[in-house]
Amino acid sequence: MPYTLDQFVADARAALQAENNANGREKVRLLVEKLLQNQDFVAATFPVEATVGRHKVHEEPDQGFVVLAHVTGDAGKSPPHDHGSSWAVYGQVSGYTDMTVWKRTDGGSGGGEATLEKVNGYRLNPGQVGRYDVGDVHSIAFPDGARFLRVTGQDLDYVERLKYDAEAGKAIVIGSASAQ
Ligand SMILES: [Fe+2]
Repeated sequence: MPYTLDQFVADARAALQAENNANGREKVRLLVEKLLQNQDFVAATFPVEATVGRHKVHEEPDQGFVVLAHVTGDAGKSPPHDHGSSWAVYGQVSGYTDMTVWKRTDGGSGGGEATLEKVNGYRLNPGQVGRYDVGDVHSIAFPDGARFLRVTGQDLDYVERLKYDAEAGKAIVIGSASAQ
């Protein structure tokens, strides 16, 4: 039997309730891998005619996790950013995402002067899923027409977080809708 969205939601909820830490989030990453193997789910969630943008697939009550389908148009990239008090799991559906993982090296945690160092880089291909835990900083780059499923610990529209301008050496507070 294919692994359904309903099963995913129930299993992710249970995993996060049992372990509200990196272990629980890693379980969610593995569950996303399993969900993306369900071709019916993928076809229904990412139809060929899907409009460019982000589409809410599921939202838990009481500021719980959110599942979004991201449908990109032109190639794009994000600046380095974190997810505030939240975390994010990115599961590639089509195309790819080049992930760069950064470390903040100035010892700070807020907006203002900041320095970053690249610590890792890899490509997520379809079916592959990456986890960016609370406080992790990453940036993404993708070609035309890439599609990915993203699960965040909370609705990031309501989470204050940081993006970085690595060249200018700045951290900037963001608190609104973002595809990152
Ligand atoms: Fe992100």
